[in-house]
Amino acid sequence: MTSSDPLAGANAGQAAFWTTGPGLKWAAHHARLDALFAPIMAGLLTRAAIAPGEHVLDIGCGAGDSTLAAAECAGPRGRATGLDISETLLAVARDRAAGRPGTAFVLADAQTHAFTPETHDLLLSRFGLMFFADPVAGFRNLARALKPGARVHFVTWARVEANPWNRDAKDAGVARLGPVPADDPRAPGQFAFAEIDYVTDILANAGFTGIAGEEAGSHLHVAGPAEEAADLATGIGPVSRILREKGGTEADRIAIAADLAGRFRAYEGPDGVRVPALLNYFSARRP
Ligand SMILES: C[S@@+](CC[C@H](N)C(=O)[O-])C[C@H]1O[C@@H](n2cnc3c(N)ncnc32)[C@H](O)[C@@H]1O
Repeated sequence: MTSSDPLAGANAGQAAFWTTGPGLKWAAHHARLDALFAPIMAGLLTRAAIAPGEHVLDIGCGAGDSTLAAAECAGPRGRATGLDISETLLAVARDRAAGRPGTAFVLADAQTHAFTPETHDLLLSRFGLMFFADPVAGFRNLARALKPGARVHFVTWARVEANPWNRDAKDAGVARLGPVPADDPRAPGQFAFAEIDYVTDILANAGFTGIAGEEAGSHLHVAGPAEEAADLATGIGPVSRILREKGGTEADRIAIAADLAGRFRAYEGPDGVRVPALLNYFSARRP
């Protein structure tokens, strides 16, 4: 199922980014990323408390890990629909869901997609809601897909300084190739929803009630040595951006990864690397 061409819509830049740009790496590394985010996903599922029979809408579902988990929680009478702007990532999700009942996937821009009104009990998202060109319009549109009283639960990154996975990776990248221009902190992207009050205002302006935002510590887990964590952290995220903007080579990435492995050594333990992370968990209701 597709809606109007997301590559030509309000979030065309994001669609290209996630379809033919870094989204290709997210697709290639999806199993490693799902393992990395497992502690954060567990926090999201605990808070969402999906009940058997519920219909869940998972926005920015990427390679489908959260959609599959939601379908599992909703059980045989329930259903989870993953929606994403990237056909590249949805292809992985569909592949993983093959033969597993209770899942569906939609290629669309969540900000503008014409949802069937009032069809879902829960809006869920793991890192998939920080990319709308117009966040209030996006959340207003998502509200249409929800039944009256439906719940909203999503997780975003808190401030970058408290997230060494990104902070240390960026520092290692800058040490090798020099600084890149600072972003508008609220521009669509990984840390756009780092400020809790900014996001709760968006939810209120989009018509939600019972809004709460909670900063919570967790960690990112790699079941291997610091070198393996550094390899993953330099394949996506800030290092990938620095390499792109500075014309860096694979030799640069390897040098940055070696530096980063040294920084991640502090987080090594008996079962691999556990890098501390700070998240924002949001909840709300559709009136
Ligand atoms: C950081 S990734 C997270 C993917 C997945 N939820 C996960 O945790 O692995 C962000 C996802 O949001 C999707 N996305 C970005 N803008 C979107 C939009 N306007 N509508 C739907 N999906 C969007 C991207 O394609 C990407 O899959």
